[in-house]
Amino acid sequence: MARDTSQNPIGVFDSGVGGLSVLQAIQQELPDETIIYFADQAHVPYGNKPIEEIRHFSVEITRYLLSLGAKLIVVACNTASAAALYHLRDVFPEIPFVGMEPAVKPAANATINGVVGVLATPTTFQGRLYASLIERFANNIIVLQDTCPGLVSQIEAGNLNGQETRSILENALMPILDEGADHIVLGCTHYPFVIPVIQEIVANQATVIDPSPAVARQTRRLLTKQNLQASTDALQPIKGNRLRLITSGNDEQLYSLLPKLLGVHYNVEKVTWGIDLGKGDYF
Ligand code: DGL
Repeated sequence: MARDTSQNPIGVFDSGVGGLSVLQAIQQELPDETIIYFADQAHVPYGNKPIEEIRHFSVEITRYLLSLGAKLIVVACNTASAAALYHLRDVFPEIPFVGMEPAVKPAANATINGVVGVLATPTTFQGRLYASLIERFANNIIVLQDTCPGLVSQIEAGNLNGQETRSILENALMPILDEGADHIVLGCTHYPFVIPVIQEIVANQATVIDPSPAVARQTRRLLTKQNLQASTDALQPIKGNRLRLITSGNDEQLYSLLPKLLGVHYNVEKVTWGIDLGKGDYF
């Protein structure tokens, strides 16, 4: 009989802090689960890196999360999903993966004007996943895209509403809104952290779609289907113990950013590429 791993953690990763928006949604949807979150801040941003490189990072991070006991992996990053999701499923066929894709389908279903905007990274737009989304769901509508250059770095630096962040978003959104877009899809997990600024720019011209709750529901479905959901009687006494945060970048910087992003402090552990993970030739 297969070993019961239902009390094991869920592994969640992103290039940096973006996936924390997904983490929050998972914590709400699945409060009994223990989660290990990995931020690959040694390599952020992923969005303009070659697909092979992101694939390599994703495989090594997955391997690392599995070594810590992860029972399921959430790729809380549109860019890593675009570059590596099919590959990860091939390399680790026994592991359930939840990936992300820009929410083009719900936007296409809901648009009245027949125009939607998608904000995502260059690598996400280049991937096979995005091309297939457009082919399947956006045949009869206009989809306008923007890569918001520099926005991920601003969010990583904690600049959630400063002038630089605001002008990147204005430059991206104004032309899209001028074309009549009535839905804006957030196709990068960093962007939910700047929703207040996005809402100010969009006013009531368009609906903003954040896919995190849908990803959390998909995580629940997959856990249930595979009989992997943690049971409540295994509750640990302290809630904070149910999350482990790991970065390959600057742990102190992430620690001090957390209250701004999540409204709470968590301990942050630091790991090093080439020592704790990714020991292969690549580095
Ligand atoms: N948060 C990521 C995404 O969803 C990646 C951003 C980046 O590292 O460029 O696409």
